[in-house]
Amino acid sequence: MSSTASKQNRPAIQEEPVLLTKVVTDRESRCTTDIQELDRVLGGGIVSGSVILIGGDPGIGKSTLSLQIGCALSRKRHKVLYVSGEESVKQTRMRAERLFNSETSFNAAHLDSLYIVNQIDLTVILEYMNKMKPEFVVIDSIQVLYSQEISSTPGSVSQVRECSGILTQTAKSMGISLFIIGHVTKDGTLAGPRVLEHIVDTVLYFEGERYSTYRILRATKNRFGSTNEIGVFEMTQAGLQEVLNPSEIFLSERPKNAAGSVVVPIMEGTRPFLVEIQGLVSRSSFGMVRQKAQGFDANRLALLIAVLEKRLGLNLQDKDVFLNVVGGVKVMDPAADLSVVMAIASGLLDKPVSFDTVVLGEVGLSSEVRSVSQLAARINEADKLGFKRCVMPKNNLKTRLELKGKQIDLIPVETVKEALDALCRN
Ligand code: TYD
Ligand code: MG
Repeated sequence: MSSTASKQNRPAIQEEPVLLTKVVTDRESRCTTDIQELDRVLGGGIVSGSVILIGGDPGIGKSTLSLQIGCALSRKRHKVLYVSGEESVKQTRMRAERLFNSETSFNAAHLDSLYIVNQIDLTVILEYMNKMKPEFVVIDSIQVLYSQEISSTPGSVSQVRECSGILTQTAKSMGISLFIIGHVTKDGTLAGPRVLEHIVDTVLYFEGERYSTYRILRATKNRFGSTNEIGVFEMTQAGLQEVLNPSEIFLSERPKNAAGSVVVPIMEGTRPFLVEIQGLVSRSSFGMVRQKAQGFDANRLALLIAVLEKRLGLNLQDKDVFLNVVGGVKVMDPAADLSVVMAIASGLLDKPVSFDTVVLGEVGLSSEVRSVSQLAARINEADKLGFKRCVMPKNNLKTRLELKGKQIDLIPVETVKEALDALCRN
């Protein structure tokens, strides 16, 4: 290639290289809501000018949460516009009174900068935003909004896309932080499907079993923070209350000395909590072996069962194996491997793992127990909840452990066999 040709192909250089240390950044400014569970999921509060989508099934508590956010922000003297497309302003006022338990305490809360309107016409909403210049806007919900520019009905994909696009642009240009509430369709995707997820900065999903009062807020996308964090709430008479210690709930109904039940301290983001893993082994009928997992990866389960069979000689070939993570939690943490293996072994041998023991460790194909991350945080959580023993990877002891309480006995193991001996001794 001639030198002139290569010069023509070269992209025009926009800027001279600079030292990374000399690059000036503007730190994003964040506003905390003082709803700690929410602030943590957002990565330390709401980034000003960001657009946050809150998705979830109908009736899960999206309107309740967003009204609580509105109240919290108003109490901090921020100007908030709450656009309620589904409920009248009177209904919303009644809901707010419930949140404060009574009309008197609602009045005493000094919500002097929380404005509410029942409106579904996008053009009018944009006018309000221009006129009022609020710092925060809540749209509840995006599915009822419509833009006159588009002929299709509210809730259709093109309406949802158009309305959220324009709202996002307006909010960004005015420096407004925007909350968009969206219903989730039966198959779990946001109605007006994935289009919304690309437009916004942060996607929060509100999850929970319909008949349970606990709700989990999970970030599935966050341009300003990690997506590992979760927030736990309980739906009460007075709205959503924060659950600052989720371990207690997930263990609250644990059976005493039942075979197949094992507790493991898992990490969700920076936060440890304890979950119960249950294993059930039964003889399979019709020569069809079933291996089913709820809240745990099915392939990983198959692999761990193979380790038990091949390396420990346990007879699982003609058995059905069921695994369940209690409380509707989904466990991705590899540190839960050993507890899964122990739950199955304990179920098979019909020997309970003692009630005050937690089990930790990643399991390799040679049945070796591998080290886990953030051991101290996990053990401290178990200690806090009164557990007395922790079966853990020996390799973790190579580094110094900073334990807060010293109540808990550590039982280091190198292999699954050692763990099984330690647990099923008694
Ligand atoms: P809602 O926030 O309206 O759900 P979404 O906006 O996601 O459709 O709340 C749903 C349920 O929560 C509703 O059935 C009533 C219940 N609820 C309470 O139990 N306590 C409360 O204080 C409030 C406001 C609602
Ligand atoms: Mg609602």
